[in-house]
Amino acid sequence: MKYRRLGSSGILVSPISLGTMTFGSPVREKEAVKLTHAAIDLGINFIDTANVYEGYDRVLGSPGGVAEEIVGKALRGKRDKVILATKVGAPNGPGPQDVGLSGTTILNALDASLKRLATDYVDLYIIHWPDEHTPLETTLSAMETLYRQGKIRAFGVSNHMAYQLCELLWLADKYGWPKAVSSQIPFSLLKRDFQNDLKFCADYDIGVTPYQVLQGGLLTGKYKRGKPVPKGSRLDESPGWLSYPEDTVLDQLEATESLAGEAALPLSQYSVAWSLAQPAMASLIVGVKSHDQIEDAVEGAKASIPAEILAGQDAITPPPYRHKAPFSRPSQI
Ligand SMILES: NC(=O)c1ccc[n+]([C@@H]2O[C@H](COP(=O)([O-])OP(=O)(O)OC[C@H]3O[C@@H](n4cnc5c(N)ncnc54)[C@H](OP(=O)(O)O)[C@@H]3O)[C@@H](O)[C@H]2O)c1
Repeated sequence: MKYRRLGSSGILVSPISLGTMTFGSPVREKEAVKLTHAAIDLGINFIDTANVYEGYDRVLGSPGGVAEEIVGKALRGKRDKVILATKVGAPNGPGPQDVGLSGTTILNALDASLKRLATDYVDLYIIHWPDEHTPLETTLSAMETLYRQGKIRAFGVSNHMAYQLCELLWLADKYGWPKAVSSQIPFSLLKRDFQNDLKFCADYDIGVTPYQVLQGGLLTGKYKRGKPVPKGSRLDESPGWLSYPEDTVLDQLEATESLAGEAALPLSQYSVAWSLAQPAMASLIVGVKSHDQIEDAVEGAKASIPAEILAGQDAITPPPYRHKAPFSRPSQI
């Protein structure tokens, strides 16, 4: 396993990170603990959870905590082997302090997470979503407090656009506070909206840790046009979490699978290798339900795709339009 820097934190993380959003349901506790141990045995040292995760049972505003408790149990005696990340900011109750990024919410939420995770620090504390009702200074100063208390080793953001990350970096610089080190965004070869933000992250040493790089399972080749949905798959068990792909998406999946064949890779491993070849990538957060699926992701992280095949992907799932400045300095004067 080749470890990668998590942005300016300098922490080294495995290129695959274990996602835990399905811990609780459909991945029950016993199986989740086994999967976590299997991931560690395979060299995965990065685990992503959140205070709100409770699997398919989650509805917006439900209390969460289930995945963190399971991770806490799985890491008994193994805490020092992993870089542990959890999140704050998404609603986890009906009360006014159960959502957002005020100092009170952040400080209370972390204490509750630490209790469930059975640890006294997290390596990476992540702002789950931006909160437009709280000044950024308030949120950053709460992060600084936690950093000074030793309860967090670094902090990162999720679902932030580059300009929002830029504001956070600028304020941290202004006040001498810790800087965000990572950005967790929805990103895959099928969903490239954030592609143009990757350069910003590379320029400012932000480690990108994308989620849904397998697009919930669509990028594994198991859903085929005209074929029944496989039993026990996400599309079978939880259509609320994954909807049946439209024809245009099926076209893209089929064309991508054939390109993956040119690289002699199954679609799942090609999708992993493609994402890891993008700028600023630190670690891909992958959701898994079985030992085979973790092994498959790890194999994908070892694979590499020849440049001409990588370039061919743009014709199938094009990157978003990149605005160009009207004038720029020629490279040679
Ligand atoms: N920050 C955020 O807002 C945010 C949002 C979403 C997710 N996340 C993080 O990202 C993680 C991953 O998200 P995700 O699980 O939705 O997306 P994903 O990694 O794209 O999809 C994972 C699912 O794909 C299927 N799968 C994985 N490998 C496979 C393989 N080799 N062959 C066949 N099927 C395979 C499994 O589902 P089935 O076997 O059940 O079909 C698995 O649960 C989460 O656990 C969470 O940590 C963060």
